[in-house]
Amino acid sequence: MTLAGRCVIVTGAARGVGRACAVAFARAGADVVALDVGHDIEGVPYPLGSGSQLDLTAELCREAGGVVLTARADVRDSVAVTAAVERAHDRFGRIDVLVNNAGIVAPSGKVVHEVSDEEWALLLDVDLSGAWRAIRAVGPIMTAQRSGSIVNIASTAGLVGYRHFAGYVAAKHGLVGLTKAVALDYAPHRVRVNAVCPGNIRDSAWVEGRMLSEVARSLGVPVDGHETAFTADQPLNALVEPEDVASAAVWLASDDTSRVTGSVVTVDGGFTAH
Ligand SMILES: NC(=O)c1ccc[n+]([C@@H]2O[C@H](COP(=O)([O-])OP(=O)(O)OC[C@H]3O[C@@H](n4cnc5c(N)ncnc54)[C@H](O)[C@@H]3O)[C@@H](O)[C@H]2O)c1
Repeated sequence: MTLAGRCVIVTGAARGVGRACAVAFARAGADVVALDVGHDIEGVPYPLGSGSQLDLTAELCREAGGVVLTARADVRDSVAVTAAVERAHDRFGRIDVLVNNAGIVAPSGKVVHEVSDEEWALLLDVDLSGAWRAIRAVGPIMTAQRSGSIVNIASTAGLVGYRHFAGYVAAKHGLVGLTKAVALDYAPHRVRVNAVCPGNIRDSAWVEGRMLSEVARSLGVPVDGHETAFTADQPLNALVEPEDVASAAVWLASDDTSRVTGSVVTVDGGFTAH
């Protein structure tokens, strides 16, 4: 139980990688604040996590032995994010870890000059500014504690380009840059900030993931067999599992990485080694 007594906030925890992270942190002994918007967002062309999915994440964390608080907040809303962080702080008395995982992959699937102002702003607002808002809310708490670990779930799209995903690629490159800048701001306060860059993650049933099928839809790849199509690009000949990303997040939050900050950890089966 490497994280016993620690309090972790995971954003985008209703399903997917966020659910895998929440459960992995609960297994490691942490108290978990599972935060999610919990409803669809206008302009995002696929369903997002629901309130009942967030409740299921909480149930899985409790089964894993964790104490859990759920929070419904849109990371585009500074007031809601700050209120959720304050509620978590009141409940647990500390915030040790923030996993900035909430994200959208679309509206995408078009050449950059066809992207509207609204589509561009939406992707940046959730995938980049959302992480910044959560950091701004936990920063004063972590710096006052003189301890903390922030893990930003970026993407290989934060390291290389993907055709027809300009907004997503720009947001994730921005998140990698934000990681390095904040790592420097907070190093004197003993708060560490790192990024994880996953490659294509399998839409695993237990976490109800669906981002890869959305990527397939955006690219016009047949949704039947899309996992096989994406596996062909992976040097390790396997898609990343949500648990692979969760393990990296737990590791970066643990004392095993007390000298690791400002780093970018790829969990991509070798994709960016090409
Ligand atoms: N799935 C992949 O192949 C892949 C690859 C690399 C990186 N990632 C990144 O991993 C993270 C999780 O992706 P996933 O595959 O689990 O996706 P997902 O769509 O299955 O889950 C994302 C979760 O974030 C929540 N969310 C979205 N917008 C939000 C908002 N404005 N406020 C609060 N919550 C919000 C959703 O409700 C959902 O529960 C994302 O940041 C994504 O960019 C995913």
